[in-house]
Parts: sequence; C-alpha cells; structure tokens
Amino acid sequence: MTNKMWGGRFAQGPDAIMAEINASIGFDKRLFAQDIRASKAHAAMLAETGIITKADAAQIRHGLDQVQAEIAAGSFTFSSALEDIHMNVEARLKELIGPAAGRLHTARSRNDQVATDFRLYVRDTVDHLDSQMAGLQRALAEKALAHAKTLMPGFTHLQVAQPITFGHHLLAYVEMLARDRSRLADARRRMNECPLGAAALAGTSFPIDRGMTAKALGFAGPTRNSLDSVSDRDFVLEVLAGATICAVHLSRLAEEIVLWATAQFRFVKLSDKFTTGSSIMPQKRNPDAAELIRAKPGRILGAFTALAVVMKGLPLTYSKDMQEDKEPAFDAFDSLSLALAAATGMVRDMVPDEQRMRAAAATGFATATDLADWLVRTLKMPFREAHHVTGTLVALAEKQGVDLSALSLADMQSVEKRITRDVFRVLTVENSARSRVSYGGTAPANVARAARRWLKVLKET
Ligand code: ARG
Repeated sequence: MTNKMWGGRFAQGPDAIMAEINASIGFDKRLFAQDIRASKAHAAMLAETGIITKADAAQIRHGLDQVQAEIAAGSFTFSSALEDIHMNVEARLKELIGPAAGRLHTARSRNDQVATDFRLYVRDTVDHLDSQMAGLQRALAEKALAHAKTLMPGFTHLQVAQPITFGHHLLAYVEMLARDRSRLADARRRMNECPLGAAALAGTSFPIDRGMTAKALGFAGPTRNSLDSVSDRDFVLEVLAGATICAVHLSRLAEEIVLWATAQFRFVKLSDKFTTGSSIMPQKRNPDAAELIRAKPGRILGAFTALAVVMKGLPLTYSKDMQEDKEPAFDAFDSLSLALAAATGMVRDMVPDEQRMRAAAATGFATATDLADWLVRTLKMPFREAHHVTGTLVALAEKQGVDLSALSLADMQSVEKRITRDVFRVLTVENSARSRVSYGGTAPANVARAARRWLKVLKET
C-alpha cells in the first residue's frame, strides 16, 4: 500500500527495511503534546486569516483534543507505517473528523512542524531542568547554612591545603549551578522564536500570520529566515552543551561524595536511601547513586557529540539526517534530570561527621599559611622570606611527628628568634578559618551570610 500522506506519485509501498529505518514514531511520540499544541495554534491561525473556515477549525480543534486525550490515556495505537508523530496524529484526526482533517496541513510542512514541536519540547525541558537545578541549589544552601562553621580541610591537588568550612565547600556548587542555570536561560532566550510557517523551506503563498502562531505558542516572535528555520538545531546543541557542563559539575560533586564516604575519609554518612549493600560483603555501603551521577557526563556529552556530528556538513535545508536529533537528546535530558534528582536527595540526606572533618582539618600542616601570614603581619617579614621560615618549621614539625601548633616556642625561636607565644593563636584551625574574612572567603560569618543570601534569592525564583 502506498502512503496515504504522500503516496500520490508512488505505485508501491516501502520495503520493510525502508519502513524500519525511516520510522521515528518509536521515539518522537514523546512530542505528542507539543505537536498537538502547535497544530491547534496553526489551525486557529488558518481560520483567523480566512485560509480555512471557522467550522473546519473548530472540528480540527475538538478532534485534536480527543487525540490528545487518547494518547494521554494510553488508548492510542501508534503505527510505524505512519512514520512519525505528525502523521500518526493527523491520521487519527482524519478517522475522527473526516475530510476537515486534511485542511490542517495547509501552509505548513513536517519540516517546520518538527522544528516547532522540538523547540517547544526543549523549551519545556529547560524549564523543568531549571527548577530541578534550583532545588539542588536550595538543598546545598540549606546544608551550607547548617554547616557554616563546620571545619574541614580544603584541598588543592587533593592534598590538605588550608582549613575551610563545609558550608563554604557546598556553596561552591551552588555557584556552579547558578552558572548552569544562566547558560540554559540564555539558550532559552535564543531558542524562543517560532519556525512554524517556514513550511517546507521557502515559506508559503498563503496569507498566514506567523506572529499569531508564535504568540499563541509563547514564543517572542517568528524566526526571520525560512531556510534557517527548518534547518537549525542550534537550540538542541546549546542545551546539550549546557547540560554537559552541568553534568560535569554534578560529577565532581559525586566524586567528592564517593571520596568522603570512604572508610579512609569518613567525612560524611550517606543515607540508606541513596546507597546499596553488597550481596557478599555484609559490611558494605556503596555510594551507587553518586557513582552513577559521576558517570552521566559520558552519555550527555555523547549526545552533544552525536548531534554535532549529525549536523556537521549538512547542506541547507532539511535533511532526514536531522531525525537523528531526538533520541540522544531525550536520553541526555532524562539522564540529567535523574542525576539532579538523585544529587538533591543525596545532599539532603548526607550527614557530615564533624569531629572527623575537624580532625582532618588539623592534619597536613593546614595552618602553615597562617603562620607565614603571622610572620608577615607581626614581624613585617617579606612574604617570600616568611614562606621559607615556615617551610623550615614544617620540616621540623614533620621530623618530630607533630603538628605546627604542637611545636614548642623554643623550637620556633630556634628558626626565627623574634617569634612570640602570640603565634599559637593563628595556628588553630578555628582561628585560621575565622580569619579568612576577605570577600568570598571561608570565614564562617561570610559563609552564613552567603548561604542566607542564596536562600533568599532562591525563594524569589
Ligand atoms: N520525522 C521527521 C523528523 O523527525 C519529521 C520531518 C520529516 N520531514 C520530511 N520532509 N520527511 O525530522
């Protein structure tokens, strides 16, 4: 049987393999709500401009409502002979309302239709991801406020560097997520133009009103070039790029959680809800959720790569290659959404071991910089010289197997005779962290203020 939608010039139907490689309904049925929404806007515009009658438009609208209800209820039968969501919806519409259904496709093509549907879908996805990112920011900021004073070692090269607070560490991720959200918001603004009405590629001779459909679908306005309208997939690429960066951030957080939950670190306890046991080792509590979050950038960047490669070198305008845009994108969006949900739950439930963290903050000569700064401030020593003196003291402490704060004053003075007892004040981890009051620094008062500010900002969005 030849195709009902375009079979006019065909004497034969497609080979079974052709039908299989060509059909996208298996995955693009996800676009049903957007497809129907766009069709309703198109039909309303066709009636308003007198291209079809109001009576036909009303029939189309009712019919589309019914199709939507059937799909939502799961009673709709998708047919792969009908290739994609657009033709599945239209064919059912025809069954429901008869010949008026055939007027819906006036002045449009599946090329502008799919470009519109997918934009609407990606735009909805961006809104959903944004609210999930805000949720994770909230969980992090709440935990940060609760732990504005909780000390832990800060690391560079994964070597103990300086004492910081746990709250400060968590707020670093709030900042990353803020950039992730602003990247998506930026992409959203750029994608918010409506390609509907570009038709196959060249526009249409019908007196359509593209401003009207754009407005009805919540777009800022219509796209300006019909060729670009049907061949552009930047809006997906941009969101995938933004999603990749966000996934990379989550992956870093996940890696830290994996480390922190090891017996060696024991900085945090993860809840039963986000860990698993081992079938053979009864003592185990594995951070599987964190590990899976850590892995997600692979497939999300994979989706970006897949689509970038599909688009690369494609001549204008639409080519069927572009049907390959959807599966990787859907997978990437689902993956990021799940990772965000899991990260939020994990952060909410995780309980830091404050004693352990504080003790770790006091290892590795974490207050060496404080000692050097004391020499600069009190003895007016140039920083480079202070660095050298401190290095010598660290070596001495290391030899004695003690922390800097446990060196005797006599030992200190054997290296620099002007050192006084006052120096011990700056060698505690509490005082070290408390002294970092520079803007953006780790002092607990700063951290509490920053966490409160974020919670306020997040309440307003
Ligand atoms: N299923 C197609 C896609 O996802 C819809 C557009 C088809 N257009 C065409 N001229 N065959 O890209």
